[in-house]
Amino acid sequence: MYSRKVIEHFQHPRNVGEIKNPDGVGKVGNPICGDIMEIYIKVKANRIDDIKFRTFGCAAAIATSSMITELAKGKALEEALKLTRNDVAYELEGLPPIKMHCSNLAADGLHKAIENYLKKTKKGKGKESQVSGLLDGGEG
Ligand code: FES
Repeated sequence: MYSRKVIEHFQHPRNVGEIKNPDGVGKVGNPICGDIMEIYIKVKANRIDDIKFRTFGCAAAIATSSMITELAKGKALEEALKLTRNDVAYELEGLPPIKMHCSNLAADGLHKAIENYLKKTKKGKGKESQVSGLLDGGEG
């Protein structure tokens, strides 16, 4: 079943909500379970200054969203892009195998928000191959 930490993050999720005028937004969904996640970021000096999420999904989707915001906050964009679903699951003291895709949703949402920021600021040009390389390699 769920770990103590998953239950705690599900009951008291961190960084819930929406950021007005975000620098980047990542929207992801899983067509099989129907869960939807949105991650909003504010970027300052190449770091994630603020991050919030809105998730319509299962307990694990809420807990993984909460955890990814904690892991990403304050990190340099390059470091945040390296966060994988395994990092999220590890920090939550594990997830049932059937719920691992929920942590994928959180990592994908964060990566998409950063990609969105890079595209908007045009910093993505030339970095895009690097970004997608990180994303391809980071899904575990
Ligand atoms: Fe699909 Fe949790 S059951 S995200």
